[in-house]
Amino acid sequence: MSADLAKLNAAQAALDYVKDGMIVGLGTGSTSAHFVRLLGERVRQGLRVKGVPTSEATRNLAEQSGIPLLEISQVTSIDVDVDGADEVDPAFRLIKGGGGALLREKIVASASKSMVVIADEGKWVETLGAFPLPVEVSRFGFALTLERVRRALRGTKCGGDEVVLRTSGKANEPVITDGVNYILDAHARSIPVPEDLGAALKDIAGVVEHGLFINLARTVILGQAKGAVVKAHEAF
Ligand code: 5RP
Repeated sequence: MSADLAKLNAAQAALDYVKDGMIVGLGTGSTSAHFVRLLGERVRQGLRVKGVPTSEATRNLAEQSGIPLLEISQVTSIDVDVDGADEVDPAFRLIKGGGGALLREKIVASASKSMVVIADEGKWVETLGAFPLPVEVSRFGFALTLERVRRALRGTKCGGDEVVLRTSGKANEPVITDGVNYILDAHARSIPVPEDLGAALKDIAGVVEHGLFINLARTVILGQAKGAVVKAHEAF
């Protein structure tokens, strides 16, 4: 099965959660990009929505797609946030930030009445952690912060403690986020209690944000080769 087709099907199903007049958080990544393009088609057909992008990449795509945009500073609340994920567990806890946009993604998700996660079904896991957890850190003192992130992995009984600075390109330059920070990728392998790791990471000076999204997702749409499965969180 093509994962991209599954992503497209998840994005298509998420359109049902967008109603006329809504303010919509626009996620980042390839699944969210499908959603932004599809939403743009609806806007051209007359749907009136305003988008709040979670990255400069999404802002550019949304502008090309004709979606009117708002700055985060112009809103007090967002009706629905539609965003992708790198992993989703049965408690709807997420790992996000594979695309490096976790800080803005978490700010937008936290400001939203409802977060709809769109992903191909391969992202559904029993235990979080096989996907390296992105941690956005201040560039100042990042090597010290990296060591403390390793200690947090060990202290919360994760399955691994390797932490690497995210780089790109032939010259292996550090990746710089939209917030002008670095990203560390924490190879936890398995995260027995995501709440504990999230709290330990938040306690580290130099950590700007981490990619564990807990108590934010309300609906998870898992795309398949044909259609999508919709899961709703019991607590909401
Ligand atoms: C970006 C993210 C993405 O939502 C996540 O990486 C999933 O990406 P894709 O839809 O390309 O699989 O968190 O920071």
